[in-house]
Amino acid sequence: MRFHVITIFPESLDSYIHESIIGRAIREKKIDVRFYNPRDFVVVGKSQKDKDKPYLRVDDKPYGGGPGMVMEALPILKAVALAEKKLKNKKLKPKIIHFSPSGKKFTTAYAKTTAKKYADVILICGRYEGIDSRVDKILKTELVSIGDYVLTGGELPAMVVLDSIARQIPGVLGTFASLEEERISSSQFYTRPEVLLYKGKKYRVPKVLLSGNHKKINEWRESKKK
Ligand code: ADE
Repeated sequence: MRFHVITIFPESLDSYIHESIIGRAIREKKIDVRFYNPRDFVVVGKSQKDKDKPYLRVDDKPYGGGPGMVMEALPILKAVALAEKKLKNKKLKPKIIHFSPSGKKFTTAYAKTTAKKYADVILICGRYEGIDSRVDKILKTELVSIGDYVLTGGELPAMVVLDSIARQIPGVLGTFASLEEERISSSQFYTRPEVLLYKGKKYRVPKVLLSGNHKKINEWRESKKK
């Protein structure tokens, strides 16, 4: 699976993807992540007074008035066009997701289906008030929300979605994949020390987990599922 992230802040995501399980998946070539910056597709000095300043503008005022700025369509369309040239599987259509708080709710089921059906996922991260809506019409994007709250941009949603889809790809979680799924659905976990001393009080691990009786342990875990 290849993830193509369209963002004006690629550095903000670069360190995250190189850590832990996602980092290992990249090193082991189970997934790869490419960034495309809409600023790279803007003519230097465009729509500004001082043409000598290398300020690359990707936003402008909204038609019809209103607060905030809107990201221009062309730099994003050009960034996506480049991503489409770098597809892992050129015979398959990529999934194109545009993050928006008013989009379809992202779920594990969505992650599983996407991991099965696509070789390439293009993630478009908006900033400011949003992106010129003609981008959605032209690219037939799917608007996706990661929850009922408004963030300042699509970068965090992109990481949430990338992480969640990546862990559905065979081999990404390693040999403990099914155990990991099991763990997620249980709500309590304990590790050493057996007795945790904190501010004069003792906090113990539930006895059943120390019993070695796997039938009982599984029953206990089942009873603690969310
Ligand atoms: N952009 C801003 N808030 C968002 C959210 N909750 N989900 C997806 N994209 C967003």
